[in-house]
Amino acid sequence: MYVSMKEMLLHAHNNKYAVMAINVVNMEQVKACIESAEEEKSAVILNISPRQMKAHAYPYIMAPMIKNLAERVSVPVALNLDHGVNYEDVVNCINSGYSSVMVDASSFAFEENIRRVQAIVTIAHAKGLSVEAELGHVGLAANADGQNADLYTDVKMAKEFVERTNCDCLAVAIGTAHGSYPKGMIPRLDFQRLKELKDTLNMPLVLHGGSGAGEENIRKVVELGINKINVCTDLMDYTKQVMLDTLQKQPDIQYMELNEAIENGMKDFIKKYMRLIGSSNRYTFEDCKVAELD
Ligand code: 13P
Repeated sequence: MYVSMKEMLLHAHNNKYAVMAINVVNMEQVKACIESAEEEKSAVILNISPRQMKAHAYPYIMAPMIKNLAERVSVPVALNLDHGVNYEDVVNCINSGYSSVMVDASSFAFEENIRRVQAIVTIAHAKGLSVEAELGHVGLAANADGQNADLYTDVKMAKEFVERTNCDCLAVAIGTAHGSYPKGMIPRLDFQRLKELKDTLNMPLVLHGGSGAGEENIRKVVELGINKINVCTDLMDYTKQVMLDTLQKQPDIQYMELNEAIENGMKDFIKKYMRLIGSSNRYTFEDCKVAELD
């Protein structure tokens, strides 16, 4: 079932678990995500960033394909624009059939961030799409941004931000960063801040930069109220490794069989992650029917 992130993340918030948001750029990745979700009886979110949608994963190809595949399964599937900075990109995705958009104005000043999110919330909500926003700034692992507490989300500001924007979920900065950390490094996260954010906002919260965060950290953030975890780098790296290993073991493999091997590899990764963050076995057919009527 093709849905916005609103109901699925409220379900996760009310039942204290998180949903994976996976960056996808082709059909094989989409299939692996949706089949994993169905087999695990889990919700799933497919993320596409502006860079990805301009380089390869064009909205007019991805959105209809994802909607079509999502409508064939009984678990909730959302398609979300990841890090929509430009107004034009966000509107393009809304018009292309995405079910959700993220407005990332986290590099702008507080008032400008609010203004940009408000503008999209008005359009998106009128069309039944959910809106994710970010306050504080989740930067790059390569720049050690995760360890810069100046970028972390301020609890009081977050309360005002959510009240004024009416966003459906909020990405918070608590110590993770996008991309790969230096070898061997596991980020130290500000759990106390996360707890205060959850207690104060009482709404679905999002963690960006899920890759390399470490299983213990991931378990703990879910326990403390994260309901959506973005994963890109780890799955892309893992998939590339499956491809290399398969080709090394079977250099004569047919192209289509290679794709199947890659898809199966991705499914192993995704299903394991869904179990880790507690989204598996959350949806019976009856749950889905209820969610659909909402
Ligand atoms: P990673 O590549 O670090 O998993 O980050 C993904 C992300 O947050 C996308 O928005």
